[in-house]
Amino acid sequence: MPKKQTNPSASFDQMKTSFLLLLVVTFTSLVSANSIPCIPWQFNPPSCKLNGSPKPGFTARFFHLPINQWVYMRDPSYFANDYRELGQIGEVSGITKQNFVSTIPCIPENGNPTFECYTPFYENYPRYKCGDVQCSNSVRTPYWNNQIYGFQTTVSNVTVELTGYLKAPQTGPYTMIFSNIDDVAYFFVGSDTAFGCCNQDGDLSEVDGYTMGVMYPYAKQVTFNMVEGQYYPIRIVYSNAWMSGTFESQLQLPLGNTILNWGKYVYTYEDKTCKNPSSSSVSASSTSSSISTSTVVSVSTSVSVSYSTVADCDCTYTDSDGVVKSYHTDLPINTRK
Ligand SMILES: *[C@@H]1O[C@H](CO)[C@@H](O)[C@H](O)[C@H]1NC(C)=O
Repeated sequence: MPKKQTNPSASFDQMKTSFLLLLVVTFTSLVSANSIPCIPWQFNPPSCKLNGSPKPGFTARFFHLPINQWVYMRDPSYFANDYRELGQIGEVSGITKQNFVSTIPCIPENGNPTFECYTPFYENYPRYKCGDVQCSNSVRTPYWNNQIYGFQTTVSNVTVELTGYLKAPQTGPYTMIFSNIDDVAYFFVGSDTAFGCCNQDGDLSEVDGYTMGVMYPYAKQVTFNMVEGQYYPIRIVYSNAWMSGTFESQLQLPLGNTILNWGKYVYTYEDKTCKNPSSSSVSASSTSSSISTSTVVSVSTSVSVSYSTVADCDCTYTDSDGVVKSYHTDLPINTRK
């Protein structure tokens, strides 16, 4: 058999091929490494050290939202700050029960009495059905009641902003769960994202981005560390674009218990009574090494993720009872720059 002639270009091709193969193998293993249960995204939002006289609960501000405006619902910039440009219509304070559901009236086609409908679904658009009952009124109409914190508004089309300081009852990882959102809600935590220290009443010039955004019918959650006794600015911006609405959130504490009425940990500091004893805000990141996450997650959390990465991930973790749980998480996202 003749000795195979060594063709320099052929061996170069071989080299290229094996290099490419190596690339493919490396890339494939990277991809599969990424699709293995991702490490839960945790971060240390900057907090505030506050003196002064806080009042219990959130402050809610209501903003105009034209009915059926889906272009706003799909725009993170709307929820980060642009919602304020459409105009404020009212304010309610002292909210410790932050969750709500709203209904719209169904006027039955068969002449039966009008009743409040929580779960309308559109059929024979623009009319809708509630259960088996065909309603004769339209989903495109604004409907009024006071089911959102007692404030009389069009529950069918409104944007509600909640602000307050979440005072951490313990040191450790917290998980904010938006479990049932209709239509859209965004969550902001930290003085760099929600609002600046002692600037709850003020503008949003000090903050940027958002922590988590959820659109109907998905549920999402995000985990972050807090230090006991520190005040963490939080902001929630909720919108309903039409029909009935729901805002259902829960907070999982470091010891694992999940709380529905977590608004009891929230305080409002009017800017004029709010005193910031340190000129710079206290960041939890300086103390994060002392935070144990072993009660909630069994995987290492020492991943570093770039702040501006736009990504979601589906995560699983094993809880303290050995049960594998899965959830969807968002990474904080910059919306402006
Ligand atoms: C809801 O829509 C109606 C009709 O477009 C409008 O008159 C009303 O002001 C809107 N509500 C809010 C809170 O903007």
